[in-house]
Amino acid sequence: MSAVNVAAAAEKRWAWIVGAIIATIIAMMVFTGIHWSSMPPSRVETIDPRTLHLSGEFAEGNLGTAVGADGKVMVRLIAQQYSFEPQCVVVPAGMPVTFRGTATDVIHGFVVGRTNANVMLIPGYVATFTTSFPRAGDELMPCHEYCGPGHAAMWAHVQILPREEFMAKAKAGGRMSCVRR
Ligand code: CUA
Repeated sequence: MSAVNVAAAAEKRWAWIVGAIIATIIAMMVFTGIHWSSMPPSRVETIDPRTLHLSGEFAEGNLGTAVGADGKVMVRLIAQQYSFEPQCVVVPAGMPVTFRGTATDVIHGFVVGRTNANVMLIPGYVATFTTSFPRAGDELMPCHEYCGPGHAAMWAHVQILPREEFMAKAKAGGRMSCVRR
């Protein structure tokens, strides 16, 4: 075999190996995405982090859980060094809950216990996802993006109430949270 043929054969071998590596990685992404029911990235929605506390959906009075006129459960929250607002999020079990969140300073994120509620909160962007929590109970909601020296102490609680109990609480209207007052 001439040197050119040897080189061509080697190139071909590597093309197959690289193809196999790419196929394996794609298969792993598809498997883990489906297996863990990971969320697709939400559409790009921007917000000015310098003014979000002044008015609009992320003003303090609008944070927490609310049941809309359409019966849909919506949680609005913000993350900042080193806490979430609200610090205790109340949600119903067994029905869809939509989260909308953003960060005021640096990149944060959260995951709720062992559920697929898992999102990054980036200043300037609104993150949104819808999930449901099958069982009532309490879960921890730690920040999972390194955000500074206080990162390890940044977490909130999620209180998942039985549907009837949640709905009874929601009857009073307004924003709900389980922060002790
Ligand atoms: Cu916020 Cu880590």
